[in-house]
Amino acid sequence: MFLNLRVIVLLSSMLDLSLGTSGAAGVSSTDTLNDVRRNITDGQTLVSAGGSFTLGFFSPGAPDRRYLGIWFTASTDAVVWVANRDSPLNNTTGVLSINSAGTLLLLDGTGNTAWSSNTTTGNTLSSSAAQLLESGNLFVSDESAVLWQSFDHPSNTLVAGMRLGRNPQTGTEWSLTSWRSPADPATGDCRRAMDTRGLPDCVSWRGTAKKYRTGPWNGLWFSGVPEMASYSDMFTNVVVVRPDEVAYVFNATAAAPFSRLVLSEAGVVQRLVWDAGSRVWNVFAQAPRDVCDDYAKCGAFGLCNVNTASTLFCGCVLGFGPVSPEQWSMREASAGCRRNVPLDCRRDDGGTTTTTDGFAVVSGVKLPDTDNATVDMSATLKECRARCLAKCSCVAFAAADISGGGDGTGCVIWVGDIVDVRYVDKGQDLYVRLAKSELVNKKRGNMLKILLPIMVFLLVLMCIFLVWMCNFRVFQFFLLGMRRNKDIQAKTMLGGASKELGDENIELPFVSFKDIVTATNDFSNNNMLGQGGFGKVYKGMLEDEKEVAIKRLSKSSGQGVEEFRNEVVLIAKLQHRNLVRLLGCCIHGDERLLIYEYLPNKSLDVFIFDAASKHLLDWPTRSQIIKGVARGLLYLHQDSRLTIIHRDLKSSNILLDVDMSPKISDFGMARIFGRDQQEANTNRVVGTYGYMSPEYAMDGAFSVKSDTYSFGVILLEIISGLKISLLHLPDFPNLLAYAWSLWKDCKTMDMVDSSIVDNCSPTEVLRCIHIGLLCVQDNPNTRPLMSSVVFMLENDSTALSTPKEPVYFAQRNSEAKETGENTSSSMNNMSLTVLEGR
Ligand SMILES: *[C@@H]1O[C@H](CO)[C@@H](O)[C@H](O)[C@H]1NC(C)=O
Ligand SMILES: *[C@@H]1O[C@H](CO)[C@@H](O)[C@H](O)[C@H]1NC(C)=O
Ligand SMILES: *[C@@H]1O[C@H](CO)[C@@H](O)[C@H](O)[C@H]1NC(C)=O
Ligand SMILES: *[C@@H]1O[C@H](CO)[C@@H](O)[C@H](O)[C@H]1NC(C)=O
Ligand SMILES: *[C@@H]1O[C@H](CO)[C@@H](O)[C@H](O)[C@H]1NC(C)=O
Ligand SMILES: *[C@@H]1O[C@H](CO)[C@@H](O)[C@H](O)[C@H]1NC(C)=O
Repeated sequence: MFLNLRVIVLLSSMLDLSLGTSGAAGVSSTDTLNDVRRNITDGQTLVSAGGSFTLGFFSPGAPDRRYLGIWFTASTDAVVWVANRDSPLNNTTGVLSINSAGTLLLLDGTGNTAWSSNTTTGNTLSSSAAQLLESGNLFVSDESAVLWQSFDHPSNTLVAGMRLGRNPQTGTEWSLTSWRSPADPATGDCRRAMDTRGLPDCVSWRGTAKKYRTGPWNGLWFSGVPEMASYSDMFTNVVVVRPDEVAYVFNATAAAPFSRLVLSEAGVVQRLVWDAGSRVWNVFAQAPRDVCDDYAKCGAFGLCNVNTASTLFCGCVLGFGPVSPEQWSMREASAGCRRNVPLDCRRDDGGTTTTTDGFAVVSGVKLPDTDNATVDMSATLKECRARCLAKCSCVAFAAADISGGGDGTGCVIWVGDIVDVRYVDKGQDLYVRLAKSELVNKKRGNMLKILLPIMVFLLVLMCIFLVWMCNFRVFQFFLLGMRRNKDIQAKTMLGGASKELGDENIELPFVSFKDIVTATNDFSNNNMLGQGGFGKVYKGMLEDEKEVAIKRLSKSSGQGVEEFRNEVVLIAKLQHRNLVRLLGCCIHGDERLLIYEYLPNKSLDVFIFDAASKHLLDWPTRSQIIKGVARGLLYLHQDSRLTIIHRDLKSSNILLDVDMSPKISDFGMARIFGRDQQEANTNRVVGTYGYMSPEYAMDGAFSVKSDTYSFGVILLEIISGLKISLLHLPDFPNLLAYAWSLWKDCKTMDMVDSSIVDNCSPTEVLRCIHIGLLCVQDNPNTRPLMSSVVFMLENDSTALSTPKEPVYFAQRNSEAKETGENTSSSMNNMSLTVLEGR
């Protein structure tokens, strides 16, 4: 059976060969150059036995630049290796041949060598052959000796079985170098190599500047790339440490899809995995992945935390403070931190160390740069601690290998400064040396933690005793006092102006109409902040000089006092960083007023659509705004006890606080305007043209997915700086059509707002737009839930599905278009048309 197969393969390859030599245009499919066939010309190819890889000539950019390379057959853009990357041929007269000495030669039309594998030994070899293996390796051998292989000379791509590392004995290095541009494979500025000093660590360089490191190998993954664990069932990651080789290799399991690690022109390494079903490359991981991955961003003894945008991500390791607080305030943290209290350590002539220092553990971090660290893989953590303590210059230590579980084994000792530390998921413990006084403070805190419960317990016992003693009388008196206190609290919260409406359980202060009239200067137009579908909003100053925004609801709600009060109390309980806080309310006759916290920065639309202000929102800020809105919305949908569908989410409903973090306003309005509308399939449509999902606008059917849609629209607005409705592009009915068209033509970057395009990370922006397009898909079932949106936004490495074309809406009524900002609230009289395509 097997024999037969082999014969067939042989026969067919001979057939192909005869076709090739007889000059049939470009048809050739053997995988070998040998005595029978010594060369291939432009147009001919070598194809690996299983068909996975093809070797041949190609032009990624201008046709007068021809390169010899190997690509993944199913996706010809996926070039894994290029021979003559720095010396392109200018026409199609190139020939690749193998000479009698086993050297591969790429010759141009005149017979000059454009590239050579340089393996010549001078001897004529009997049976040298070059074979393109199914792994993608071009392998030159003579009988059993390996003469040369392309895997030893990586371009910008690492595939399974290739090494990234070096041979410490000969100095030979296997490293990735970026292309100059997607159309030019010439050696670019960026390099990814393995740093073998200290613990093995992969480092990205741009020129001579270190830009990123993966963190040291910890036996399981690189300390800063815990996502490697997430695909270890498909690709096993190994770091080989031998006298003649220190290298990272990944190996694909039998059923795993094809994967490649590519170093982009910008210095970003992505792990791309081929999804053969949908024929797309999914991004499994990317490095660097966020601001904290910038090498040494926070300087010596700095500690980077991606979750602290408000303090610009940088902090200091416990026991340290910024060297220069002025510089930190100017966004310049690279000077780092210095010790608050000097260490106390002396070493006498006899070699004995006297010290009172101790260690504080910094948990969950990517370990610092180990270039100048000492490593001993055989020590235990306990020995490590003792060694560090005995060495006055030692500032920190950590376990070198955590693959065995527990606290880990092995010992890394840092002297001098520690740099490039960040918090990371599944991070390791770093033990930092501190003076005794710094540690005592902490211990006292711990003591308090232990003592506090005991004290509370004693207090409770005493109370019970007292109650029993006084036969409940004291207790009753006590309760009475408590209740009075609470009333006073509620009253004083808004300047003593509250007027209770009965029930003691109300947590929300009610403010009298008189106070509101005073606060807003009798609803003067000067105090008006804006006007929306639900009413007008005024700025007010309550008696305690507290600035608030007061919303005077339009009188159409038709809701009873009790219902209204219940809804307001419910909504006041929704509290989240990204929601505007409801502080109080007022009912007076048929007036209904809501009192909100006041946000001085106005709403998002004021910034993004205004040529003069849009530069105030740079890409990182916009990205934070997008994420904030998503989190706020997720809270409304899921995290609060009830599901609130916003139904009128739009950029003018996103307010910005002083540090430009977003807060969603007007949520719960649909509830306040009557519970009956909560039924699905209601006819009453509350929303704003352009932001309304098709099923909601057409059928009045809403769900959390209608909010997802509105979110998608806002996301695209934030990135493009273009309004959904008022787009001055004659070819497109609206922003969605425009975005889709660019996406389809792979020109998505064209839609990015000109004020951010120069300073943003294209990968981040493109991913964001991709997510936006997923949100605005026509079918609500294919739109992601906000929980997935938040997840996709916060995890750069998760794969995204391919969006479907959105349906475009435009209003027939051009007058309505001009006032498209206004909220519509109408019964079945929507004048909407669905445009066919573009
Ligand atoms: C390529 O090989 C063919 C025969 O195998 C030979 O006729 C031709 O001269 C070779 N071309 C070069 C450039 O070596
Ligand atoms: C390639 O370069 C040679 C000179 O090196 C020139 O004579 C020839 O015309 C060029 N061919 C093309 C297609 O540009
Ligand atoms: C192709 O380029 C080579 C030099 O690179 C040149 O000598 C040759 O004339 C060119 N051939 C054609 C057909 O342009
Ligand atoms: C081969 O050797 C030549 C001369 O030493 C050198 O210029 C060339 O860059 C080498 N090529 C490769 C692929 O190493
Ligand atoms: C890689 O995987 C193949 C099977 O898929 C196995 O034969 C080989 O030994 C593995 N190599 C390493 C270094 O794990
Ligand atoms: C290692 O030491 C050298 C020489 O003192 C210094 O230039 C370099 O910055 C140090 N590297 C790290 C990561 O601390």
